[in-house]
Amino acid sequence: MTSIAISGASGKLGRMIVQSLRTITKQPLVLLSRTPDALIGVSSDVEPRFADFDEAACLVDALAGVDRLILISSNVLSPDGRRERQHRAAIDAALAAGVSHIVYTSFLKADSSPLSALTADHVATEAMLQESGIGYSILRNAFYDDLALQFLERADADGRFVHAAGAGGVAYVTRQQCADAAAVAVSDDFLGRRTLDITGPKAISMPELAALASACRGRPYTAVQVSTEELVEHMMAASVPAESAALLAWIDDGLANGASEPASLDFEMLTGRNAPALVL
Ligand SMILES: NC(=O)c1ccc[n+]([C@@H]2O[C@H](COP(=O)([O-])OP(=O)(O)OC[C@H]3O[C@@H](n4cnc5c(N)ncnc54)[C@H](OP(=O)(O)O)[C@@H]3O)[C@@H](O)[C@H]2O)c1
Repeated sequence: MTSIAISGASGKLGRMIVQSLRTITKQPLVLLSRTPDALIGVSSDVEPRFADFDEAACLVDALAGVDRLILISSNVLSPDGRRERQHRAAIDAALAAGVSHIVYTSFLKADSSPLSALTADHVATEAMLQESGIGYSILRNAFYDDLALQFLERADADGRFVHAAGAGGVAYVTRQQCADAAAVAVSDDFLGRRTLDITGPKAISMPELAALASACRGRPYTAVQVSTEELVEHMMAASVPAESAALLAWIDDGLANGASEPASLDFEMLTGRNAPALVL
């Protein structure tokens, strides 16, 4: 029987993928992690194996007998190319081990994002997959709904969503939705190459987020548009460190320029299910 491996299986998304897979297939699952002992008992009929993207030598053994791989992008964010090297090591090992299909979790608009510093590793990894000759499903996930919850946390003090995102919307996706998409993509026997946008059902602007927060939380919220400079000042006045404030304002500017829209129907097409609406 075809064996499926999941990298990053101890992470938040990885654990959801394992649970989602167990509801749709009995195929053997190999759970890859730097801490495989932590995965014992996560689900029945799974085989935890040690795998570290920074140790290329261990990866071919880790993928022995695996036919299809879910490669969850690593959570290393550094400007020194480490994440790109990690993903290359994983893809090279998959080729050497005879893996026939890789499901890779990329980022929405990877190749055209105004937030290119966030997506550069994904662009490089997508190019590696294209050059590899291997079959793939690239799932370009939108921003997790964590981002909406962060915006809400910032707004909670005075009910104002102070932002610099203009009319730009975010097609927030839940991790569970990303997990369900990955589980279907790895187990539906697709053999070719596809790139799908995994988004929520609607791109939600800041004024719409404020309205949704008002409805969900039973108190009034409003959206207040400012410049990126004013947003940095506003956050620093609320004790956000300067570096984080600059990063968050940069993300708002990217959103104003369409970084996380429009919503896509690819999730429905892939899974036959509706994308869940954002809940705050
Ligand atoms: N779309 C979005 O809004 C958004 C936001 C944040 C992150 N992301 C991306 O989505 C991914 C999954 O999200 P998440 O919340 O599940 O992240 P997470 O809980 O931090 O899990 C990430 C996993 O990456 C694995 N990893 C890191 N370094 C590794 C290495 N050297 N070798 C092997 N595996 C390594 C870890 O696996 P082990 O510890 O088991 O080795 C970890 O469990 C993140 O890694 C990130 O690339 C997307």
